[in-house]
Amino acid sequence: MTATLACEGLRKRYGDVTAVEDVGFSIAPGQAYGLLGPNGAGKTTTISMLVGLLRPDAGTVLVGGTDLAADPRRAKARIGYVPQEIALYPELTGRENLRFFGRLFGLARRGLAGRIEEVLDLIGLSDRADGRLDTYSGGMRRRINIGAALLHRPDVLILDEPTVGVDPQSRKAILDGLELLVGDGMSLLYTSHYMEEVERVCDRVAIIDHGRIIAEGTRRELIAMVGSADKIELVLDGDVEAAYAKLRTVEGVIEAARTGAESVRLIAEGGRYLLPALISAVEGSATVTATQVIEPDLEATFLHLTGTSLRD
Ligand SMILES: Nc1ncnc2c1ncn2[C@@H]1O[C@H](COP(=O)(O)OP(=O)(O)O)[C@@H](O)[C@H]1O
Ligand SMILES: [Mg+2]
Repeated sequence: MTATLACEGLRKRYGDVTAVEDVGFSIAPGQAYGLLGPNGAGKTTTISMLVGLLRPDAGTVLVGGTDLAADPRRAKARIGYVPQEIALYPELTGRENLRFFGRLFGLARRGLAGRIEEVLDLIGLSDRADGRLDTYSGGMRRRINIGAALLHRPDVLILDEPTVGVDPQSRKAILDGLELLVGDGMSLLYTSHYMEEVERVCDRVAIIDHGRIIAEGTRRELIAMVGSADKIELVLDGDVEAAYAKLRTVEGVIEAARTGAESVRLIAEGGRYLLPALISAVEGSATVTATQVIEPDLEATFLHLTGTSLRD
């Protein structure tokens, strides 16, 4: 199957600064692909090369099998690009802005009005379409921005940190809308430094740091890199010291610590499946009154690989 979007060996340097080095990945039709990395990792530089705004020092980009460098017009027609910043017209309404962009992209006047209504529905702004842009929240503007990128029915939508500076309600609308699009068969390239969003939206993730992809795979594969151990917190009632001694000997428990007068923390292989064994281990000494299993996430993977946190 031809990838909707594929790149290989992408490199961009600015003087001594290597912004992107040897970046490559492939996005299948209908796949939501995440590019996750902290600020300055090289996400925007990568995207700029994918959409033909920045010429790579090295590497290739194929859009639906078409080489971007060889046939940019054909390749770009398959891409919808949502930049971090966009110039919308504040004195025009949402619908008028979409019409403007539709004409700018060379879409035929015929069919455009209908397509604009479909897009307004997709981005959840049908009822606000006649409001002027300067009355919109940042999140609503961002949704118009996404709508403009969808007008020409691209095969892949590329979004550069679409929820930065966006109110929670719009953030939810954006993420819900993207899930609908993917459900309809659209491919996504979603870049963000928000681990939770990438975990929610994306089937497959590349983690980028200092211009390089340091890990790639499904969420499950990436998290497995940390190891399969879970952290478990138990709150106990009874003879906690005796219960603690018993818990340490349960098979699968890697580490144990007293974290309070009534609480114990365990690191355990396949922790959540171990809960019944832990509860019966303390029988006779104490009862377990509360449990919490903390599973590793992509944040933990990033920390494991780089020794630093993803968050600002
Ligand atoms: N036009 C430029 N000139 C010089 N350095 C740049 C330029 N654009 C980006 N960089 C540098 O390249 C690196 C990657 O930046 P960028 O792609 O914007 O990262 P991200 O989008 O992940 O935050 C950063 O170190 C940034 O300072
Ligand atoms: Mg950026």
